[in-house]
Amino acid sequence: MFIQEKILILDFGFPQVQDLARQIRQLGVFSVIFPYQTSMEKIAALEPQGIILAAEDFAAFQSEVTQIKQCNFPVAFWPALTKVGLKEFLFQDCSCKVYWSIANFIERQVQLIREKVGSNKVLCALSGGVDSAVAAALVHQAVGEQLTCVFVDHGFLRKGEAEEVQNVFQKKWPLNLIFVDARERFLKKLSGISDPEQKRKIIGNEFIRVFEETALGLGEVDFLVQGTVYPDVLESGSGVGGTIKSHHNVGGLPEKMNFRLLEPLAKLFKNEVRKVGRELGLPTEIIERQPFPGPGLAIRIIGEITAEKLEILREADAIFLDEIRQAAFDDLWQVFAVLPSIKSVGVQDKVRTYAYPLILRAVTSVDAMTAKAAHLPYELLDKITERIIREVPQINRVVYDLTSKPPGTIEWE
Ligand code: XMP
Repeated sequence: MFIQEKILILDFGFPQVQDLARQIRQLGVFSVIFPYQTSMEKIAALEPQGIILAAEDFAAFQSEVTQIKQCNFPVAFWPALTKVGLKEFLFQDCSCKVYWSIANFIERQVQLIREKVGSNKVLCALSGGVDSAVAAALVHQAVGEQLTCVFVDHGFLRKGEAEEVQNVFQKKWPLNLIFVDARERFLKKLSGISDPEQKRKIIGNEFIRVFEETALGLGEVDFLVQGTVYPDVLESGSGVGGTIKSHHNVGGLPEKMNFRLLEPLAKLFKNEVRKVGRELGLPTEIIERQPFPGPGLAIRIIGEITAEKLEILREADAIFLDEIRQAAFDDLWQVFAVLPSIKSVGVQDKVRTYAYPLILRAVTSVDAMTAKAAHLPYELLDKITERIIREVPQINRVVYDLTSKPPGTIEWE
């Protein structure tokens, strides 16, 4: 049984608001975040079990607070709530029951997807990332053969990734998968282009074009699965002040096509998406995958992209990742290599070399808004450098990027 019981968090610009929502869910109670400007009618319509006002300081919000206090729901002030206080508020003041669990979520979503889709056809663009993979797995659980997944290989994935997606979704765990090898097509479109934003635009547009062409070949398709997650929903307008972060995932919506959307993960945080994936039997390699930008290696090659540079970067990046994996560094947000389009002089086996440098980047972060360069041990960096220079002859120098975000960004482009 699925209970619509929820705690409403009204966000007055509280920086840890998503942590608070996650914490409540971890106690087995569903929580949603709305901006503090939400109208009293809307709050009443949501029928929350209780309301938490989340702010660092309420001084500027006296009239809003007075108004909300008059409603019929239990109201608590965060961070006046201690950890024990939170439990008391949920389970005593609001009489919440422990209903929120991943198993319940899956059961309910499967039911909802079946009701929504009926006997219609569903399409999903797999990107290789966690969100689209879990969304596909969930929809597949609900409607099986009615789902077709399309994977467009644009040629900018890390070593072995395209094969891995194919292996998991076609062999280990069969679902209808159309694998489109569009590598040459993308490379041609990007020839001579070195501006990062132009690269992104071209890749985004081309992706949609390839996806559309493939979808048209399938005949009538009614639904499109999107791997939207709760932070995307919050960031695209329902947060305080309506902060809009442009969604820069490759694979925006095809505009001309008449799809209805299925967004089965839109209420979940990333850690919950991973739990759903695990519960549905997706392999760890896919579930634990680090965030990877839609345009992939195309924005990790600084300047013009060529097949040769892609190959060099892919090999070096794989060595870096392999060493990090072996060293069991698992709380890093992203680990990757960047290839600039310059060369420098070196000497190897008494012979002068003139080859590319490689930049290593490893960062810790909670949400990619800020990040710190990871403190990797020197011995490890030494070993990685030595291996890369030995195994990738087109590289003769390796540097480690120590810049935080801000002032740097995580990616170089
Ligand atoms: P920056 O470089 O802005 O990156 O600090 C923050 C996070 O966003 C990812 N990123 C992208 N993801 N398409 C994406 O899907 C993009 O064009 C893109 N650019 C950056 C980046 O990997 C990091 O996790």
